[in-house]
Amino acid sequence: MASLGHSVVGIDSDRSKVARLQAGEAPFFEPGLPELLREGLASGRLRFTSDLDAAAACRLHFVCVGTPQRADGLGADLGDLEAVVTSLGPKLRNGAVLVGKSTVPVGTARRLARAVSAAGAELVWNPEFLREGHAVSDTLAPDRIVYGLATPPSSAGSGVIDELYQPMLDAGVPRLTMSFESAELVKTSANSYLALRVSFINGVADMADAAGADVTDVASALRLDERIGRLFLNPGLGFGGGCLPKDLRALTLRAEQLGVPKTASLLAAVDQINSARPDRVVDLAAEALGGSVAGHRVAVLGLSFKPLSDDIRNSQSVVLAKRLAAAGAEVVATDPQAARLARQEHSSLGYATTVREAVAGADLVVLATEWEEYRSLNPVAVATWTQARAVVDARLVLDPAEWSAAG
Ligand code: UGA
Repeated sequence: MASLGHSVVGIDSDRSKVARLQAGEAPFFEPGLPELLREGLASGRLRFTSDLDAAAACRLHFVCVGTPQRADGLGADLGDLEAVVTSLGPKLRNGAVLVGKSTVPVGTARRLARAVSAAGAELVWNPEFLREGHAVSDTLAPDRIVYGLATPPSSAGSGVIDELYQPMLDAGVPRLTMSFESAELVKTSANSYLALRVSFINGVADMADAAGADVTDVASALRLDERIGRLFLNPGLGFGGGCLPKDLRALTLRAEQLGVPKTASLLAAVDQINSARPDRVVDLAAEALGGSVAGHRVAVLGLSFKPLSDDIRNSQSVVLAKRLAAAGAEVVATDPQAARLARQEHSSLGYATTVREAVAGADLVVLATEWEEYRSLNPVAVATWTQARAVVDARLVLDPAEWSAAG
């Protein structure tokens, strides 16, 4: 927002995060973000603080706090969101607009709107569709902008946000206004549909294995059907991260609560197929090692939930590494960005800094997260670094012929 010329203050209760941001340091790996951060700070249009009083001077308030899965069930934990809305109440000036960015179960915004309007402000729900690893471009050039309003089609608040997003609207980004409920459902069903596609192709992969077909061939042909489309049809280890798994589960619960059990079953099946993926790869690893991974050294390439991110929340690659270790393998994992965090959170695993170090002495190599530097590994070179003569490509990104030719 600062890069669009607006004056922005970022507020967070985590003081160490605020200090790092104020020093121009991004608290996580995100391509393009450090540059934008430094540019914003240097322009004087961007600053960070832990003092909520700073909000009192603002006209627009983006609420971007996390809504993780609850510890005691499938639903989203709205504790932080509710706390922020409550503590912002007294700081809101008349006519202020509170913009909800957090991903919430359908029905949340209408409940929160009462407290916001009691404070003389307006609530607009403006779901966020950015992907990690592409956050900067997705934010500045989104596919669509959605406003959930108390009473669509427009309001004073939507007019204020229009001013903010003017450059994007001028560039032709479609903007849709709808009810709170519809906007909430757009977000959670978008993520759940992406998850469904991944589990669908993984379900086809299991059938292909059982029937002697090759899912790579099947997927290549499916992608050429315009109605099906190219993306989110890569079979493999499945989906993870801080969004798809928890949004899928929260939507499953919400479907049940709303008395729509068939939709709940469909969504639950998507989760079940995904949960089984790491074990499928452990089976492949065991097969490659003559029946069991126990006692073997296994190099795991990639730990983040996807490339271009250091996020290991719900990472299928971490689950895989831990399952291999639980089955008795000596795991040596590596990742270009996520290894530092993984070392802290999963200290029982072995780690290496480079691929060369990870594969040295390994009996098997498993590609878990498809970072470009792993996709472009030279099999001839790798064959000289390791005694392993099998690679399990859990993301189906390597060329089997090329790797077989290299031994
Ligand atoms: C996802 C959505 O794509 C964003 O639109 C949304 O804004 C975001 O969640 C959010 O709710 O904040 P992200 O979590 O960054 O973004 O991850 P994705 O790019 O969607 O990938 C999710 C997972 O699916 C990854 O683990 C990836 O490896 C896996 N995946 C993706 C597959 O297994 N196969 C595919 O074909 C595509």
